[in-house]
Amino acid sequence: MKILENISLKQYNTFGISVNAKRFISVDSVYELQQLLKIEKDIFLISGGSNMLLTKDIENLVVHIDIKGISIDRENHNDIYLTVNAGENWHDFVLWCVSENYGGIENLSLIPGNVGTCPIQNIGAYGVEVKDTITKVEALEIETGKLVQFSNTECNFGYRNSIFKNEKKGKYIITSVSFLLTKITHNLNSSYGAIEAELASKSITNPSLKNISDAVIAIRESKLPDPKKIGNSGSFFKNPVIEKSQFLKLQNKYPKIPSYVVSNTEIKVPAGWLIEQAGFKGKRFGDFGVHEKQALVLVNYGNASGIEIYELAKKIKETIFIKFGISLEIEVNIIT
Ligand code: EPU
Repeated sequence: MKILENISLKQYNTFGISVNAKRFISVDSVYELQQLLKIEKDIFLISGGSNMLLTKDIENLVVHIDIKGISIDRENHNDIYLTVNAGENWHDFVLWCVSENYGGIENLSLIPGNVGTCPIQNIGAYGVEVKDTITKVEALEIETGKLVQFSNTECNFGYRNSIFKNEKKGKYIITSVSFLLTKITHNLNSSYGAIEAELASKSITNPSLKNISDAVIAIRESKLPDPKKIGNSGSFFKNPVIEKSQFLKLQNKYPKIPSYVVSNTEIKVPAGWLIEQAGFKGKRFGDFGVHEKQALVLVNYGNASGIEIYELAKKIKETIFIKFGISLEIEVNIIT
């Protein structure tokens, strides 16, 4: 185990924010992590760094989770059970599944980050959430160094939410995630408007996993900035869920407001639409701003600080509240 000193975290977070880690260690096995926890518990975890906004230097030991490996636990005619270690890149795992014809996560193509963090915010896109395929999550309890397992139910998944963002926050290090995928009879999800349109434009009527994955990649590439080119953390805010009565009033004023029914009394509205209406879409302030094609994504054009981006997020929140009476919730983990 080698602890490095004064390392810039710029390449370890997809926002590309340059803050200093006083001490940094990359860990590639559960055993190594357990040994480390015996001597140091005051740690700051970083994995794919795709859902965090760093606003200051990190004083505690930064532990980079780099545990790799995929194993097939068991399979039968149609089902395959896999366990994937936390440090595997999410998109590489999706592409591998598609190439092996394992179905279930193809709609989640091109989402930045690593496998170990996918359950924390229950990543989701184009009609699919990762919770639909997760069977269990294995994690080390920081306090005791013990390896524990959470079943799907115990993870308490919700929209961009799980137990790891709530009562278990900061208490565990996810070391692997297990999935149940399909081998022959796939439950394809191609009804999302943008996917349907993309498949139709290619005259595909009976899509394969690869067709869906390719369609999602094309849609994402057309709307979302590539973090390797423009720093970002995907959707910065959650899509707010509001009371139906409030929605009806808004619809009266803004007849074109898009919406999704959540229940008889609740409606979800796209935060991207609200932010665009408030005039922020494509706005650039120095080295940071709001993405020109998707207003839900805040971007770092080069050397923005986390504080600048956080201040912009607060300004957007305030403006949306004044204009629509809706309180946006930040989805990205702000490290203050
Ligand atoms: N819209 C606008 N202006 C914008 C952005 C969106 O008017 O700048 C409108 C669109 O026209 C559409 C609606 O808002 O009517 C929804 O847009 P879109 O389909 O792009 O999805 P979203 O609700 O903005 C969510 C997820 C994304 C995911 C897409 C596709 C959240 C917070 N975001 O975005 O997730 O890729 O759906 O399923 O739920 C992420 O979490 O990082 C992420 C990118």
